[in-house]
Amino acid sequence: MKELISNAKQGLFGIFILSLSACTENPSPKADSLPAKTEMTHSDMVLRGKYMVNSLGCGDCHTPKHLKGMDMVPDSGRILSGHVSTEPLNPIDKKNLKSGNWILFSPDLTVTVGPWGISYSANLTPDSTTGLGNWTADQFLQTIRTGKHMGQPGGRDILPPMPVQDLAQLNDEDLKSIFTYLQSLPAVHNQVPAPVPPTALAN
Ligand code: HEC
Repeated sequence: MKELISNAKQGLFGIFILSLSACTENPSPKADSLPAKTEMTHSDMVLRGKYMVNSLGCGDCHTPKHLKGMDMVPDSGRILSGHVSTEPLNPIDKKNLKSGNWILFSPDLTVTVGPWGISYSANLTPDSTTGLGNWTADQFLQTIRTGKHMGQPGGRDILPPMPVQDLAQLNDEDLKSIFTYLQSLPAVHNQVPAPVPPTALAN
């Protein structure tokens, strides 16, 4: 050990070894003397939630977009407000769906057609009747953790392509931050249609 220490004194490795040996000589500090984890404030949570929502790509499916050539430009007045209920959809060519050949997206990616039928991306803004305005943070966590619509036990499963299993990997603090950010958005009144079952698509 002495030899190691003298060699290491010249370098960073030495600092590491010295501090290791210091640790073994002195008892480690008591847990209660460690600095307390600071609670996030409301505005910290909004910022963290915004960062997560933007990097996890919630808007890819939940924000209506305008098509400009090859670009999809988010509709800034409708951020995260789900499929626009008044927007007409092109007829679905059911041939494409036979034997699960293809999954179809509407041009702005807010509607998806697949073996589960038609799913419409939800309104995540805090509108009290058509969005998450009346939801609690616990309900939001429950929804993501259980994959059940509105977090209701025994409720229907949330449909693809909502990546609910992936989002369930997030810890409670991150999910709460996401919810806090969503609740800080401007409320957009937009009643997204209920999903259509696959039987309604059968030829
Ligand atoms: C690939 C597309 C996609 C992405 C990305 C996505 N969602 Fe969804 N989401 C959907 C669809 C489609 C639905 C509607 C599913 C249904 O009706 O069962 C939905 C539904 C929801 C719902 C309502 C669930 C319920 O109770 O019915 C919440 C809340 C939600 N998404 C939050 C999020 C958040 C937060 C993110 C980002 C962290 C996100 N979603 C990312 C497609 C997506």
